[in-house]
Amino acid sequence: ARFDVDHIERCDSTNSVLLARASQGVPSGSVVVCDEQTAGRGRRGRSWRSGNASSSLTFSLLWRLAPGCSSAGLSLAVGLAVAQALESLNVPAVGLKWPNDIWLFGRKLGGVLIEVESDEAGLGLIIGIGLNLRRDAARDAGIDQAFASLDEALPELTREQVLGTILSQLALRLDHFARAGFAALRQDWAARNALYGLPVTVSSESGSHTGRCGHANAEGALELLTACGARVLITSGDLSLRLA
Ligand code: BTN
Repeated sequence: ARFDVDHIERCDSTNSVLLARASQGVPSGSVVVCDEQTAGRGRRGRSWRSGNASSSLTFSLLWRLAPGCSSAGLSLAVGLAVAQALESLNVPAVGLKWPNDIWLFGRKLGGVLIEVESDEAGLGLIIGIGLNLRRDAARDAGIDQAFASLDEALPELTREQVLGTILSQLALRLDHFARAGFAALRQDWAARNALYGLPVTVSSESGSHTGRCGHANAEGALELLTACGARVLITSGDLSLRLA
């Protein structure tokens, strides 16, 4: 995969900018990285707070998938690529929380939001990634959960280094994903599954389930082991740790 990176100073959301460009036909591999994102989106209608070029990395990548190809498990594959990129930069204790959070030291460091643009040429996947690079008083005041920033592990990393490393890992993992699906990346994802074996609650539009967190299957669905020994497959929702 080859990437064509466009740096912009300010935008509402890099996913929105790239969604608009995708519908105008920009090629697969187009990347938009933004210094100051003013209305970043998270999953399930939430907002994503970002700071500036030194405190946040916010970018989106367009990946076109041929007709008939499945994108099942893609957000897990993307999270894995980000984790492996950080590990290759010697960031310790990186974990993944299903379906798409990247953790550092047991707290959320970043997230992935994938949106879809489809036409007769197949699926256009807008892969949005946001990471906290440094503490930032203005941004941090608006975050309502425990979170981490990369400077806690490696204060000297620059945004360009992090972006470049993530893009190279994405090139490898997306190629692999296109050939063999998430099944081929499952083991690597499982090795970083931060909540494996722990009691969790999954909440989604269709209700909530509790059980022990299992691994993701070949389609990226999460297996939950309930108290009565049943295995429930979860395809969407939010996972939270249940405290005894
Ligand atoms: C989540 O944790 O819910 C996903 C967060 C994804 C944030 C990134 S920042 C770049 C891209 N543009 C957006 O508006 N959102 C994603």
